[in-house]
Amino acid sequence: MNAHGACLLEEDGRYYLFGEYKTDDVNEFAGFSCYSSEDLANWRFEKIVLPRQADGLLGPGRVGERVKVMRSASTGRYSMYFHSDNGNYQDPIIGLATSDTITGDYAITGPLTFKDQPIRRWDIGSFQDDDGTAYLLVHEGDIYRLSPDLLTAEELVTRGIAPGGESPTMVKTGGTYFMLFSHKTSWESNDNFHLSAPSLNGPWTYQGVFAPDGSQTCNSQSTFSFQLTLESGKTLPIYMGDRWSYPHQASAATYVWQPLTTKKGRLEIATFASSWNPKTGNTVEVAGPGIKIDFESDLAGETLEVPFDGSGITLMGTAQPNGAYACIDIMDSKENCITSSYVSFYAKVPEHGYRYVSPQLTPGTYRLVLTVDGALIEWSDKRGERFGSAGTKVSVTGLTVHTPKS
Ligand code: GLA
Repeated sequence: MNAHGACLLEEDGRYYLFGEYKTDDVNEFAGFSCYSSEDLANWRFEKIVLPRQADGLLGPGRVGERVKVMRSASTGRYSMYFHSDNGNYQDPIIGLATSDTITGDYAITGPLTFKDQPIRRWDIGSFQDDDGTAYLLVHEGDIYRLSPDLLTAEELVTRGIAPGGESPTMVKTGGTYFMLFSHKTSWESNDNFHLSAPSLNGPWTYQGVFAPDGSQTCNSQSTFSFQLTLESGKTLPIYMGDRWSYPHQASAATYVWQPLTTKKGRLEIATFASSWNPKTGNTVEVAGPGIKIDFESDLAGETLEVPFDGSGITLMGTAQPNGAYACIDIMDSKENCITSSYVSFYAKVPEHGYRYVSPQLTPGTYRLVLTVDGALIEWSDKRGERFGSAGTKVSVTGLTVHTPKS
């Protein structure tokens, strides 16, 4: 999937995921995508629901981020909110687009306004209460109540409850409202935190980190919280985060979705689950690598080649502070490259696990070619602070070949 800074909606037994459709070379807006699924595991690309525009809020040179969609309980129409900005993030504004159907096309109506003024902020989130009342969440912890038709902001319910907080999300569970935020470290992950309150006007209480302390929120940044209904009828709040990978976001940025438990009035991801069942919320034990590999290199151009017979391949490896990109190509028996992707071996906190899972392939004979990219992963934020890797290492520890049944 290519749907970053996403949100998730459930309608008539289908899940709809909206997100930023990233490219591997530039940060400029390239569209908002929509995918849908019946089970949260198998996804269908619906379409680009809002493409790059000829001009305006999402025209050339603009950035478009953190798309959030909600359905008006009174009109049945869909409103889409997004962060529009110039390339240097110096012209932030919250935009609005609408559609009659969930999968679009969405048409931009202009900036979202409060008291007839555009809301000139950046990171946003969305939340709809049990009675359908919709709220726009803003970085630093402002909450706007939206009009019933979802076309304007009517009331500033709460202000500044999370100084320094970005990427706001909200979930209500057991009658308590929880708001999750990241700190401001650009595309780099950090230890995200949360607050709780008995009502949206507060009082809001700081509840600290919700993921294992020091794990940089399992190397991710919050983007949405979703109340999942399990097959038992119980609900389970889900943390949804981005594992950004600037500059090759389309290929290498991935997603961290984890069940949250409530403990003593706080939310918690007790331990990171590599795999879990969305019907039960339970962790699924994953088989270790079928074949052990010992490949470690930071030399640009060095390759690891793996011929295989099957319907796909998974690579295990270590992401670490001195890691960077590999390029992985899958060649068919006629030496045609059928899929090519950057894969990141960089993480601020070392993490061993899945690094690459190929698309499902027609059963056959293939060759995986991994090539060490050799370039540092680096970028600086708008204050000029440097982020990224301290080396170019790629470290593969094992692989599993998929058989048609696995
Ligand atoms: C933060 C924001 C993202 C994006 C990046 C840009 O991570 O949460 O949406 O704006 O900064 O650096």
